[in-house]
Amino acid sequence: MVTLPDEMRAVVVYEPGGPEVLRLERRPVPPVREGWSLVRVRARGLNHSEVFTRKGLSPSVKFPRVLGIECVGEVASTIDPSRLPIGEKVISIMGEMGRDFDGSYADYVLLSNDQIHPVESGLPWEALAAIPETCYTAYGSMLNMRLTSGQSILVRGATSGVGIAFARLARAMVPGVCLLGSTRSMAREDLLIRNGFDEAVLDLDGSLQVKGRPFDRVLELVGPATLKDTCAHVREGGILCSAGQLGGKWYMDGFDPIVDLPPDGCLTSFYSGNVRGERLAELVSLIEKNDIDVWPEKVFTLDRMEDAHRFLEGPHCFGKIVVTE
Ligand SMILES: NC(=O)c1ccc[n+]([C@@H]2O[C@H](COP(=O)([O-])OP(=O)(O)OC[C@H]3O[C@@H](n4cnc5c(N)ncnc54)[C@H](OP(=O)(O)O)[C@@H]3O)[C@@H](O)[C@H]2O)c1
Repeated sequence: MVTLPDEMRAVVVYEPGGPEVLRLERRPVPPVREGWSLVRVRARGLNHSEVFTRKGLSPSVKFPRVLGIECVGEVASTIDPSRLPIGEKVISIMGEMGRDFDGSYADYVLLSNDQIHPVESGLPWEALAAIPETCYTAYGSMLNMRLTSGQSILVRGATSGVGIAFARLARAMVPGVCLLGSTRSMAREDLLIRNGFDEAVLDLDGSLQVKGRPFDRVLELVGPATLKDTCAHVREGGILCSAGQLGGKWYMDGFDPIVDLPPDGCLTSFYSGNVRGERLAELVSLIEKNDIDVWPEKVFTLDRMEDAHRFLEGPHCFGKIVVTE
């Protein structure tokens, strides 16, 4: 029997704005109810989408709200202990956490049982927290891109958490691929190379500075803002996976799939909201078995969430950011 405190720390947003609107305060620990269990959050990864939400750019999110769309931790209280024993190590992502209901920027989060996924792992919390949303998206995209050895692959938006996770996974799992990563600043090439890329490509005002169609596969993380330009660099029969919106555009005008896609090419995507518990578990086990480095680039504590968001939005942001207790 675990005794729960009455109160917890939570980072609450009352009105849209900069990192300073993230207010650390004390709130009651939410009581469990039928079909929902309480998770003690040990760490959570930060995501670009949380910056959009904090700025008020997620129209469905009503403030005040505790943000945070993912977490790792332990079951703290439940009325379904046969499926979710107290103390069980779990992962959760999406399912409107931190959007429609209060999320993981708190000591405890109340989650629907069907979005709580038990996981076996010996990884430290910081590393485990870097996996759910970011590595899961990179992994799902990678599977949809049908990578095979020897291919030339471009990640557009490569310095992002998802971009770096993709490079580390692809490097470990598919031998002999040539991996290029785009960035808007070539000063970041060394960082990309240290994380598994062979070269950097300059992304200059939405135009990729390469000639012709050199790539067998492209992971597009800048999204609709650059997808048409990306199409022009995918080889005949190649696959383009559009899984991000770093460019701040969600929809496309002036895109003619018949003409713009590469000859005999395929356009695919991946959405982490379609969570499959068994695939998450498979990913964690694959990372551990292959000793893939998922350590986050930067780790903050919950009381420094404002600094963590400042870093996430700043010019030095790179790879995954994790916030622990
Ligand atoms: N499909 C899904 O289910 C799913 C799941 C998770 C994330 N995502 C999406 O994947 C993308 C990456 O997410 P993340 O959390 O990993 O991002 P992140 O770490 O916050 O990405 C930061 C990087 O984005 C680049 N960037 C920022 N603004 C940009 C712009 N206007 N144009 C081009 N690049 C820009 C910067 O790279 P440089 O300065 O080096 O260019 C920066 O290093 C996001 O769009 C996110 O919404 C999708």
